[in-house]
Amino acid sequence: MKTSELIRKLPKAEIHIHLEGAILPGTAMELARKNGVALPECERVGDLYDYADLMEFLAVYGAIADSIVTIDDFRRITYEMLQSAAANGCRYMEFFISPHAHEGVPFARQFEGIRRGMLDAETEFGIVSRIIPGMNRELGPEAGEEYLDEILANRGDDVIGLGLDYNEAPYPPEPFTAVFARAAGNGLRLTAHAGESGPAAFIAGSLDTLKVERVDHGYNVVNDPALVARCRDDGIGFTCCPSTTKYTTTWRDLAAPDHPIRKMKEAGLAVTINSDDPPMFSTDLSAEFMIAHEALGFSFADLKKAILTSLEVAWIDDSTRRQWLTDWSVEIDAIMGTADRAG
Ligand code: ADE
Ligand code: ZN
Repeated sequence: MKTSELIRKLPKAEIHIHLEGAILPGTAMELARKNGVALPECERVGDLYDYADLMEFLAVYGAIADSIVTIDDFRRITYEMLQSAAANGCRYMEFFISPHAHEGVPFARQFEGIRRGMLDAETEFGIVSRIIPGMNRELGPEAGEEYLDEILANRGDDVIGLGLDYNEAPYPPEPFTAVFARAAGNGLRLTAHAGESGPAAFIAGSLDTLKVERVDHGYNVVNDPALVARCRDDGIGFTCCPSTTKYTTTWRDLAAPDHPIRKMKEAGLAVTINSDDPPMFSTDLSAEFMIAHEALGFSFADLKKAILTSLEVAWIDDSTRRQWLTDWSVEIDAIMGTADRAG
């Protein structure tokens, strides 16, 4: 079996992907046309998904989000994201949503469509999924409080946590302390994008003040050895997204010996592999595992560990966790065993 095929077959959990960033270019164009929304000028569909940095990327992300309006639009993008993930071996997903990016579209309508897509995909592909609303840090903590109110008003068992995303470097975590504490008080688990375009201090700030359990991206942790040791000792889960680093960080060469994901793995951090905004970064979950293997120095044993780590830090109940850890481990060993036979 070819390595890419073997990697595709591995059972996986994806715990860092954005619904709006997972929209296929063809779907974005079609929905924009249907809803009378103008997307940025481009000659070919794929040209829309080209950016120099995080800010440029977020501008396109916003334009695409504007094109998603009706319940069925939300159902379709959710269904397509999960369909594609399932085709890449993904069995369980925790995905971010950006409800404030769809201006004028009531949260209730968005949740209705998203839930229909989740149900359809679980029925057809067996993929289980949960929602993490992302709080847009650019809008500030006061807007964050109103946002949390809306999330709690539309809450179901499928809303498991709260994230903090968008342009990181100008927006440190500390101002969001109170709203994150209120989210935790309402039973939401916490994570934050930190150390992607912001410094290592934003990772420490997210742990100390926001009290997050996981760190999204977190690459700049490598610049602070004491923080690396702390995160390793405390078992902080890092949701790493290899392809994203080419667009949003200072590390553009995935094969560089000092690439942070390689360093984080070597330092023994709890690294997981995820796809973030797959079509927008020309990737999918299997391709991210392939990059980890071919460019970032992950052996098959390291890939297995990354998958099991994603279960360790996933927001699932402990009996499911134990069951999946056992079952997936056996399955991964069997699939990896076929590589040896193929030589
Ligand atoms: N929203 C979608 N992808 C993101 C990223 N990589 N960083 C911050 N916000 C995002
Ligand atoms: Zn992200």
